[in-house]
Parts: sequence; structure tokens; C-alpha cells
Amino acid sequence: MLVLGIETSCDETAAAVVRDGREVLSHIVLSQIAKHRPYGGVVPEIASRAHMEALMPVLDDALRQAGAAWNDIDQLAVTHGPGLASSLLVGVTAARALAMRLDKPLAGINHLAGHLYSVFLDPTVAEPESICPMIVLLATGGHTLLVRVDSISSARVLGQTLDDAVGEALDKGATLMGLGYPGGPEVEKAAAGGDPERYPFPRGMQGGSGPVAGGLPRDRCFSYSGLKTALLYLLRAHPEYLTNGELPHVAASYQEAAFDALLDRLERAVRAERVEHFACVGGVAKNRRLRAKLEDLAGQVNAQLHVAPMTYCTDNAAMIAGLAGALALGGFPPAPVDDVHPNLPL
Ligand code: KG4
Ligand code: ZN
Repeated sequence: MLVLGIETSCDETAAAVVRDGREVLSHIVLSQIAKHRPYGGVVPEIASRAHMEALMPVLDDALRQAGAAWNDIDQLAVTHGPGLASSLLVGVTAARALAMRLDKPLAGINHLAGHLYSVFLDPTVAEPESICPMIVLLATGGHTLLVRVDSISSARVLGQTLDDAVGEALDKGATLMGLGYPGGPEVEKAAAGGDPERYPFPRGMQGGSGPVAGGLPRDRCFSYSGLKTALLYLLRAHPEYLTNGELPHVAASYQEAAFDALLDRLERAVRAERVEHFACVGGVAKNRRLRAKLEDLAGQVNAQLHVAPMTYCTDNAAMIAGLAGALALGGFPPAPVDDVHPNLPL
């Protein structure tokens, strides 16, 4: 079963063809980073216009790379939320028109569920039914979620950030440190050779119990506003740190604090839910320091770690087509695509 997936929820125009939910035949991502870089963040107007220009050539590339013709496609899938409304609209409108023209079913896929599924795009990872239930840490520029995944169609949010997402904290921290955009990879580069223990940045909401907003327990949730403020105050008191060779230590310590908070909540969840598998997905999962810390945790909690392949950590359409294919093969009817849902929850 061939599924053509379309992803335009933020600033990546992506299309992919995936066979039977697992085998990625093509995976095209056109990043708009260069277009947004001068503004230090994604500009929705620019993003939607760029999607309009790029989508048809990206779709053509995805079919060509897969060696497939339009008529070989059995189903289409598109991200219908969450994301930027004007960006989602481009993908959703194109997908609806194509589905109508080709007379094929179209499935609406939740972007966050797609990220969770990205683990299974690694051909060496077993089928979902043999490794679920698992705990998944979803760490992106827009979301930081701790999720219990029971199957491809059933997931429960255990915790989430109360303010910034971890990727957002890295992006904003990078700006304060005078580094480029997007900040996550820039902070990682700047931190090379730095001492992660040099500056004791706050680990946000560590410890404590009791419910917070949304009824989620405090010790499963995240907060990154204090970390950002601590960096701001440090650099206000010591602007010379940006130029006197101290920056690698500041960047390494900042990154470490951001990741320690993730690891602390993840460890609690893995132990409390008594699962044998856990995973990390999303753009921040590209970070090598985070990956090393996750591997250490796997040894400590005696559970198996699955990290999404590098190329499927950041936004892509293979995770959308993959999940749609797995759901179709599992007998789930495609979710209707009636509109865009910018705040779609998991
Ligand atoms: O999953 P993603 O592509 O988009 C969203 O759905 O948000 O994640 C983008 C985020 C950005 O905040 C970016 O700075 C971060 O992932 N990121 C990284 C790295 N590569 C991307 N963070 C840390 N280390 C990296 N190497
Ligand atoms: Zn994403």
C-alpha cells in the first residue's frame, strides 16, 4: 500500500511516499530556514507563500524519487494540525484537490502523532505492537510533551511544558548568546568543548508534586522560562562572556540544564509506568549530547531506547505518510480533512 504524505505545518515543505507504513520510498524536505533567518524566527506570511511555490515541485520530486506515478498512489495523507493556520491551509487545500482529482482516500494526520510515529521509520525497530506501551519524549520547537503510547492509535499525554518548548528555549537562548537561527544546532556547535557544569542554570520545576494547569502532575511537566531569564541575567552581568572564550561553557551549561529537565521527567515516567521501551522524537532529538544522555538513562532504568533516525527528527512527510499507512493497514478509517486545526491536541 503506497501512501503519499504532505506536510506544511510550519516552515518545511515536505512530501514522501511510504510503502505499508514502514518502507520510505522517497522523502523530500524543502527547508525555508534561509528565508526566515533574517527575522530570527518563522514569519507565517513568508512561510505560506513559500509553501505555495514549493509544494507542487516537491510532490513531483517525491513521486520521481519513489519511482511511482500518480495512479500508483493508494491513499493521500496530510497534516491538518497543529501548526500555523496559513501554512496548514496550503497543504490541506492541495491534498483535498489531489484526492478529488485522483479519486483516492485522504487521511488527516496529527503532526504530533506523526512525530511519535517517526521512531518506526527506522527499519530495525520492531513493529509498534511489540514495543508498546512505551514512553515517548516529544521535543520540538513548538512542543515538549511526555506521552504514553499504547498503540499507533492510542496515546496519553502525561506531562507538557507550561511555557516555552525546549527547542524554543534553545532558539531564544541562542539569540541571547548572539548565535544564529535555528538555535538548537547553533547552541550544540557553540557548546563543543565547553564545561556543562560551569554555570548552574535552573532545571525548571524539578521535584515537587501536585497538579498544575490542565490537571497534569507537576513532576511530569516542564518550564523553561526561568532558564532563559537566568541566561539573560548572567549575560547582562557579564557581557564579556560572549567574547572572552567563556561562550562554550555558557552554551554547554545552558544546553545541559535544558536536557537535565527532560531527562528527569522522562526517568520518572519510565519508572512509574513500568515500560520496557522509551523513545525521543522531534527536532531536538538530533542533538548528540541529548542522545548520549538518553543512552545513559536507558542503562539506568533498564529499558530499551529508540531514537527517531536523524533525518526524521525534524519536520518531514515520511512520518505523516508512515502513520497514515499503518493506520489504514490496521483497519482505521481515514480521519476526514474538513479544515485546518492550528491547535489540534494529541
Ligand atoms: O521538530 P521540529 O523540526 O519542528 C517543530 O515541530 O517544532 O523541531 C525544530 C526544533 C528547533 O527548535 C531547533 O532549534 C531544534 O528543533 N533543533 C535542535 C537541533 N536541531 C534542531 N535542537 C538541539 N540540537 C540540535 N542539533
Ligand atoms: Zn514538528
